[in-house]
Amino acid sequence: MKDSSVPRPLRAASDGPLKGTVIVPGDKSISHRALILGALTVGPTEITGLLEAADVMNTARAMESLGAHISSRGGGQWLVEGVGVGGFSEPKGPIDFGNSGTGCRLLMGAVATTPISVDFTGDASLRQRPMGRVLEPLQQFGMTWKGHGEAHGLLPVSLRGASSSPPIRYTLEVPSAQVKSALLLAALNVPGTSTIIEPTPTRDHTERMLEAMGATISIEQSSAGRVISVTGEAELRPVPIFVPCDPSSAAFPLVAALIVPGSEVLLERVMLNPSRTGLLTTLLEMGADIAFENRREIGGEMVSDLRGRHSALRGLEVPPARAPSMIDEFPILSVAAAFAEGSTIMHGLEELRVKESDRLSAIAAGLKDCGVGVEESKDGLKIEGRGAEGVRGGGNVVTHMDHRIAMSFLILGLASREAVAVDDGSMIATSFPDFEDLMSGLGAPLLRANA
Ligand code: S3P
Repeated sequence: MKDSSVPRPLRAASDGPLKGTVIVPGDKSISHRALILGALTVGPTEITGLLEAADVMNTARAMESLGAHISSRGGGQWLVEGVGVGGFSEPKGPIDFGNSGTGCRLLMGAVATTPISVDFTGDASLRQRPMGRVLEPLQQFGMTWKGHGEAHGLLPVSLRGASSSPPIRYTLEVPSAQVKSALLLAALNVPGTSTIIEPTPTRDHTERMLEAMGATISIEQSSAGRVISVTGEAELRPVPIFVPCDPSSAAFPLVAALIVPGSEVLLERVMLNPSRTGLLTTLLEMGADIAFENRREIGGEMVSDLRGRHSALRGLEVPPARAPSMIDEFPILSVAAAFAEGSTIMHGLEELRVKESDRLSAIAAGLKDCGVGVEESKDGLKIEGRGAEGVRGGGNVVTHMDHRIAMSFLILGLASREAVAVDDGSMIATSFPDFEDLMSGLGAPLLRANA
């Protein structure tokens, strides 16, 4: 596996059309949940297609330090031998989640209602990300915690799980699947029914997996939003888990095919969960030539092969209500927007300021450096598409330890007149370890920046 701790400057230059068929790695959100929920069952959970990237491997190590056994069978096959709901034991030392907000926040929930002490830490990027959004609502279960920073919501965090908890009713203040999932995982070890209300729907992988594992969970639509009720103390049964291909990773070679003239790329088995398809909807509205072939269901999720061809894109205004279904895709959408005719307006995106980096400012700085006009506001961007004139490129993009900023600007470099350099591609290993090989297989080799 590529090391995400040694800086890896990379460069991308235009080198003709992209052609070929590829399979992107397993979905990151589902991979984290497969390990965590597998550990909360008693017995063996077989996982096929697990994403073997640094973020997910940190979650695997975290589950081991809490008492579960996790082993690789090779070729993306993994086995989790769980300890059951309430069965975690106290880890011997701090758990380091590296770059992964998802692993860290979901685990905070999973341990919050078990009476053990757990210390959470992460890399320089994760230590700047808000944990209070998860820890504060979790307090209602009776857990206690101590963190750092001005509002004390930053890692490292020491958490003491509750020895007895009341069920809670909580309405999410931020549209976040991580916060929702943390609360649902905590509720599993609480007698009675806890209810989480999400005014804006977010990805529903936790709910789907809990249903498949036999939890007592109900989901209703009310005027307040999606009302999710889960009853503890749950006994989850192990079920085989098939991890479909990650639409958030597929987005990079797909947009590359749309913006590099003459390209045609087939991406196999990409997950089409409706809570994740906002980018595809938006690209189609921009005039992208994307064909959905061989739609089918695998492991409870719809998947499809996606054929993307070079397209004349048009700018548009992205409806803010769509943001949660494409929350990780705004960096690569911004690259597509740079090549479109006319401007693209995105707003309602304050959440992007607290991702692996402040993505609104990282995107704006990178695009300006590549000769693209962009206006940054508090919660959005307006990008002046270059259309037929094309994008100059030539930037030296600062990635701020953010894998998606790195991949997005490398894709931009494949279609711009001048090569684009990124200061550090090492973080790509957190979500898409085969990115360089996969792009090279499509005819788009990425180079070491000093090569
Ligand atoms: C994720 C939820 C999203 C997303 C992240 C993965 C998840 O974060 O950005 O990459 O797996 O639940 P938020 O819940 O903070 O929006």
